[in-house]
Amino acid sequence: MHDFSHSSKFELPTIFVILGVTGDLVKKKILKALYHLYRKKRLPERFRVYGFSRRDYDDVKLRSYLRDIMLDNDYQDPELFDEFLASFYYVQGDFHIRTAYKNLAKTLGRIDGEWSICSNKLFYLAVPPASYSDIVTNLHESGLTKPCSPQEGWTRVILEKPFGTDLQTARDLDQQLGQLFQEEQIYRVDHYLGKETVKNILVFRFSNLFLTPSWNKNYIEKIEIRLLEKIGVEGRGEFYDKIGALRDVGQNHMLQLLGLFIMDQPYKFIPEDIKNKRSEALASLHVMSEQEVIKQTMRGQYEGYTKEEGVDPQSKTETYFHITARSELPDFVGVPLILESGKTQKCEKIEVEVTFKETPLCLYDIEGDQKNTFHYHIKPDEKISMKFFAKKPGFDTEIAEHELGFDYRKAYEKNLFIDDYESLLFDIIKGDQTLFVSTEEILNEWRFIEPIVQTWREMDKPKLKIYEKGKNART
Ligand code: BG6
Repeated sequence: MHDFSHSSKFELPTIFVILGVTGDLVKKKILKALYHLYRKKRLPERFRVYGFSRRDYDDVKLRSYLRDIMLDNDYQDPELFDEFLASFYYVQGDFHIRTAYKNLAKTLGRIDGEWSICSNKLFYLAVPPASYSDIVTNLHESGLTKPCSPQEGWTRVILEKPFGTDLQTARDLDQQLGQLFQEEQIYRVDHYLGKETVKNILVFRFSNLFLTPSWNKNYIEKIEIRLLEKIGVEGRGEFYDKIGALRDVGQNHMLQLLGLFIMDQPYKFIPEDIKNKRSEALASLHVMSEQEVIKQTMRGQYEGYTKEEGVDPQSKTETYFHITARSELPDFVGVPLILESGKTQKCEKIEVEVTFKETPLCLYDIEGDQKNTFHYHIKPDEKISMKFFAKKPGFDTEIAEHELGFDYRKAYEKNLFIDDYESLLFDIIKGDQTLFVSTEEILNEWRFIEPIVQTWREMDKPKLKIYEKGKNART
């Protein structure tokens, strides 16, 4: 992958504006990622964070609020907290009021004046998507996202999924962003792409020649992607009930994983080529008719879901789904591509399993299937394992199933691992778009997902299955 970190713009002072600094995303992900980058000296030397929110805070209050989060969550090296937090400042403002942005622009302009430079500026929308439209308009209108000149600091805008709630709303958002910013200024986060194991998928597929000839419909019987979680909706009932499992994790994280497993080899290992190939893979998914949705999908809801806070007592929102998709990519025509996800499952299991076809000329008898599998474990295990067959020792030729494995956590020291958000933030500062989702990818994802959601909602078919917590809806 490109190393952008030596470019001179990486060394420019950088201002990181977080809209919604007192929200959940900062608390759970962004603060930790910034702190890790700080400890590892991976942030530009001159770096400031401006929190922008409605709460009546000031710099001191913001720092003490963040300090409490760091203490409560056992961040390492508490002796560094104050030094790190000294780079945090606060600007109070309502996201929907233009003058608040003028205030922010004045503050940032003053800092640039003090530094005698036009600094890099990064605007992270850590807010509910309903506010995106107003915020991006206000950022643009107030001139905050206008770079000073091509030679000076850049400005970038970062948005989190969900990007729209269907194809039309995704298109509307895309159109608005396209009118206000250049594509290279926009970073669309799907945090799964930042996970170490996910970053490895293309390396694994395209650096091991022995995989290449067999990675297609001639040898692969099916690919299964599972995102099974032990947790329920965890206090997010109101948000979750409006979207359901398929749009929460299927439209984004799982389709991104699928894309990485079936996409063709990029011409070069550069962001545009990688994203184009990912997008082609997503565009190749067969869009299902109503009848296919009824036959090839199932949906479930865990018992007690309708009693969760914020959830409609009559809700038919799915917390589980199982979908058999097909791709029209020549290499994968006819191969079932199975997506399965559920909340309140017995154990957490996020993985991709590739099953190869039965060995055609089976010279030796074995009980059961003689099929090789690749198991790509993403979470909580971070492993790749492969099922293969070998002769049992002894006079007879008996064969048995065995496993070859590679465990990331055992192979490398703990301090080498970086979190998903840490990796993504570092790439945003470097200007590497590889791990961010393009607008084409998002629209292709919606093209596939929308008819499924529509059939479920409008025809109420297939019937919603209520499943016990700790059990899979299909058992
Ligand atoms: C989020 C979903 O995008 O991804 C959550 O909104 C889900 O419902 C989460 O739990 C899973 O991500 P991770 O990184 O915890 O596996």
